[in-house]
Amino acid sequence: MIDLDNKALQILQTNDQGGYTVPTQGMYPYQWNWDSAFVALGFATFDMDRAIAEIETLFEAQWDNGMVPHIVFRVDDPGYFPGPSVWNAGQTLPSSGITQPPVAAFVVESLWKRANDEDHKARLKALFPKLFAYHKWFKTYRDYENLGVVVTVHPWETGRDNCPEWDEPLSAVKCDHVAPYKRRDLDHADAAMRPTMAEYDRYIALVEYGRSVDWDPEIIASQGPFRVADVGMTMILLRSNKSLLNLANEYGDAESASEITTWINQTKSGVDYLWDDETKTYCCRDTINGRFSGLVTNASFLSFFANVGSPDQRARQLAHWDRITAETKFMVPSCDPASSSFDASRYWRGPIWAVVNYMVALGLSEIGEALRYQQVLQDTKTLIELSEFPEAFNPITGEGSGGESFSWTAAMWLAWAQQDIN
Ligand code: DGY
Repeated sequence: MIDLDNKALQILQTNDQGGYTVPTQGMYPYQWNWDSAFVALGFATFDMDRAIAEIETLFEAQWDNGMVPHIVFRVDDPGYFPGPSVWNAGQTLPSSGITQPPVAAFVVESLWKRANDEDHKARLKALFPKLFAYHKWFKTYRDYENLGVVVTVHPWETGRDNCPEWDEPLSAVKCDHVAPYKRRDLDHADAAMRPTMAEYDRYIALVEYGRSVDWDPEIIASQGPFRVADVGMTMILLRSNKSLLNLANEYGDAESASEITTWINQTKSGVDYLWDDETKTYCCRDTINGRFSGLVTNASFLSFFANVGSPDQRARQLAHWDRITAETKFMVPSCDPASSSFDASRYWRGPIWAVVNYMVALGLSEIGEALRYQQVLQDTKTLIELSEFPEAFNPITGEGSGGESFSWTAAMWLAWAQQDIN
């Protein structure tokens, strides 16, 4: 264990660019939104000062309208495509024009609970108005139809880039006008573990669309070619709003607390928009045609993290859980192995992601599913013992998938998976 602890520590230190951390060298040479938030949990195990700095530097890139971008481009690195000039998002600190799953408030609450130094507490408290503005942006611009859920405008925004949940909505995105480009991800990772060219063309078409409307959030949310209610971001935002509410109460901010409570209640009463009664699971839904993806993914199980669902819905979700457990060696695959779209090594079409395991596990423990919690913890621990710190893991063989020496996998080891299991 000591060896893995040291290796994890070394990965964070090597990927640390001074105040912010890259997900991995080469393939992802900038600061990514949800990566940074999870990485802060890793730093917090040995350096709270550095943990807080990770969130502070992320929020330096916050837009005036409240959005926190998914990539912050502090340097221009030709090894990554699409870089700052392709996004052309018009920010002083260059960034992408979309966001990512809002785990930051949940992470800041975790740091707040651990912090005991007055200076650390003051710095965390100073982040509150920024977190509040970020969540207000979600409410204002990503719940355009007031459904109580998060509507995403790009698969990259969900963090689950090539999840089969996007196959159908993406197929409607026109890409014949996309200017020729060179993918750089394939210089760093095996093509069999990455999205396909057809997917990439559409990712770029969506970037070109955003740029063509000057990243106007209202236009993108109401007229964009890709508008899908995302189960992952919705569950994460709900959980993060609960964290934000706890912080507002802690700081005696009654006005913010009341507004956050309204957001929470809207999501609680609206989340069944994402319940597919045919598949009996929470999944993504295209707001343009109302169609469900009909897929069980690791994001479906984030309903535990958000603590939503009736007893019957929970039982249905747990039935999927047990079925999937019987079909894979390790939990939790990013796509149902019973689906024809399942691919054990291709990014978000099957591989296991330690950060999602962490959130799902926490949710399971909180709803009283102690055995299933232990199962996810044990699986995550075994995967890291087997393959160390890759980007993701093959759920059948346990082999690493995607990039290597990954910051968030190292952070999850330090913050969670290294613990002794009774
Ligand atoms: C990529 O470039 O693969 C990233 O996932 C985008 O966020």
